[in-house]
Amino acid sequence: MLLSIPDILSTEATRQIVKRLEQADWKDGKGTAGHLAVLQKRNAQLDTADPLAQQVGDLILAQLSQHPTFISATLPLRILPPMLNRYAQNETYGDHIDNAIRTITTTQEYLRTDISATLFLSAPEDYEGGELVINDTYGQQSVKLPAGHIVIYPGTSLHRVNPVTQGVRYAAFFWVQSMIRDDGQRALLYELDGSIQALTASSADAGEIIRLSGVYHNLVRRWANT
Ligand code: NI
Repeated sequence: MLLSIPDILSTEATRQIVKRLEQADWKDGKGTAGHLAVLQKRNAQLDTADPLAQQVGDLILAQLSQHPTFISATLPLRILPPMLNRYAQNETYGDHIDNAIRTITTTQEYLRTDISATLFLSAPEDYEGGELVINDTYGQQSVKLPAGHIVIYPGTSLHRVNPVTQGVRYAAFFWVQSMIRDDGQRALLYELDGSIQALTASSADAGEIIRLSGVYHNLVRRWANT
């Protein structure tokens, strides 16, 4: 399931962040790529220990932890602290699949990358190119969102970032290990939850809503790993 969620951060918040990122101490992005991906990757990243990366990451996580759509779509077990990247002119990250396992450096816990997430920090009019192109079941999706919006997609997907031909593209990216490992099961639960929320907001029969929400929770009980 590929899903865009708007307004995780306000336009003003992203503007402030970008202003600080312009002054940041950027490192070659090859440092965190796997041995195959390293050949494809040309960008810069902020070290995870950098206080600015930590501040921005904490802000994003605080917003996401209370965002009903994000929670419903990901059912997170663990979230890797967000990292920040920068694509300047001619920089790109060719087709690749992300590593399956990451280590959360602060806790030394493993995280299986069920879901990949990119939060766009630059406004789309501030750079040319730089689309995130994701191959999913229905073909290629080209994603370039307003500042503060996030896209989530299965970690199993082949994807790339097109070359930036003008301007600079800043983004945050991270991975989620879901309580529901299977993308198809997660998508079903997301649909079911959306339907229950919509019925609850309507004047539908309360007893039937309780029955449906029981189905939801019993499916989670059946499928979840915690
Ligand atoms: Ni990637």
